[in-house]
Amino acid sequence: MVPVNTYRVAIVGTGEIASEHAAALRRLSDRARLVGAVDVDEARVAEFARRWDVPSSFEALTRLLASETLDVVHICTPPSTHVPLALECLSAGVVPLLEKPPALSLEQLDALLDAERRSGVPVAVVFQHRFGGVPVRLREAPTRAALGRPLVATCNTLWFRDDEYYATPWRGSWASEGGGPTMGHGIHQFDLLLSILGDWQLVTALAGRQSRPTETEDVSAAVVRFANGAIATILNSLVSIRETSYLRIDYENATVELEHLYGYTDADWRVTGLDGRALPALTASREGAETSSHVSQLRAVLDALDRGDAPPSPSPTPAGRSSWRQRSTHPRSAAGRFAPATSRRAPLLLEHAGHGCPVARCRSTGWLRSRRARPSGPCRRRTSNGWRS
Ligand SMILES: NC(=O)c1ccc[n+]([C@@H]2O[C@H](COP(=O)([O-])OP(=O)(O)OC[C@H]3O[C@@H](n4cnc5c(N)ncnc54)[C@H](O)[C@@H]3O)[C@@H](O)[C@H]2O)c1
Repeated sequence: MVPVNTYRVAIVGTGEIASEHAAALRRLSDRARLVGAVDVDEARVAEFARRWDVPSSFEALTRLLASETLDVVHICTPPSTHVPLALECLSAGVVPLLEKPPALSLEQLDALLDAERRSGVPVAVVFQHRFGGVPVRLREAPTRAALGRPLVATCNTLWFRDDEYYATPWRGSWASEGGGPTMGHGIHQFDLLLSILGDWQLVTALAGRQSRPTETEDVSAAVVRFANGAIATILNSLVSIRETSYLRIDYENATVELEHLYGYTDADWRVTGLDGRALPALTASREGAETSSHVSQLRAVLDALDRGDAPPSPSPTPAGRSSWRQRSTHPRSAAGRFAPATSRRAPLLLEHAGHGCPVARCRSTGWLRSRRARPSGPCRRRTSNGWRS
């Protein structure tokens, strides 16, 4: 697709993940220009602006919005700040591109969706694993027809974080992070599963604190039935010494598997077909679409904005959401399937982490169409304390 616009972009929160965003914007510099940065930490934002050549920096989003004309703001702050900052962007008519998780509760999510509807400005959320080449092909109708019905799936995010990881003040509390590996880590992989298999209808889940000094869970497990009838298990862990991210879907005609850690290429996928059955070339690279990264998601977001569409994202069903709201409020109503105290949170977390993402509801793109077109002017990462996310 030929780029149409050059978007004016700012980043709020200039910590670890912000560099990934700045690098993605640099890769797509003919389509988006990083014109501002914000952080409550004055020294950090100054250093970030110097490193990435950002012309203006501020200590509050309010001041940025008052000073700059912007199209998109990347929100890279701790999870509890995502919704308030996104609401500010929507009020200013600017698209917020939120890091995951978009919200900490269904109430917050509803407030965000409501503001999105009222403003007519779409909200986008970073779930970069949807945007590698193979999932894009798996979602296409001819591939789906060739693979047959999805029958059973496994989705494991088995990662390791030591006690020191929780020294970052916002990690590990319900109030600031909203959950453990369910909201912050496995969220990527089960979001990918959802993007391929569609909406789930039933979730039974457990969560527990097995080892880490955290208020939230460090392990969660769920059994899920999708609307299409497929049954899946989902395991999210931060206590697993041999780390892996593993996804497997058994279709009628083939088994499709992915094994990676923090980001994949086409080469990390494996397809095993039923004897003699012709299958589509799932892992044949297409230019620019083969990796899962902030670059591939940002490219898809900019493509959508160029077309005047809402950015591509998860698709929650109102029915699924409301049934989960009910279960979350009355956890024991599911015949004892919700066991220890924190397990009551797991279905709620799973629901709004992977399933309740705002963007699918934002089909109101009048804002985008009315904007004046301007002339065009490796995901694997370890942070300074050693870990991603
Ligand atoms: N998509 C991914 O692969 C991925 C990977 C890592 C982190 N993340 C997500 O990115 C977000 C940030 O994570 P991080 O590791 O970069 O955190 P971090 O702590 O390294 O950085 C957050 C920054 O935000 C700043 N900040 C806090 N409140 C602010 C506010 N109100 N206004 C402006 N700045 C504010 C902090 O001073 C800090 O510099 C989290 O939601 C996390 O889950 C996503």
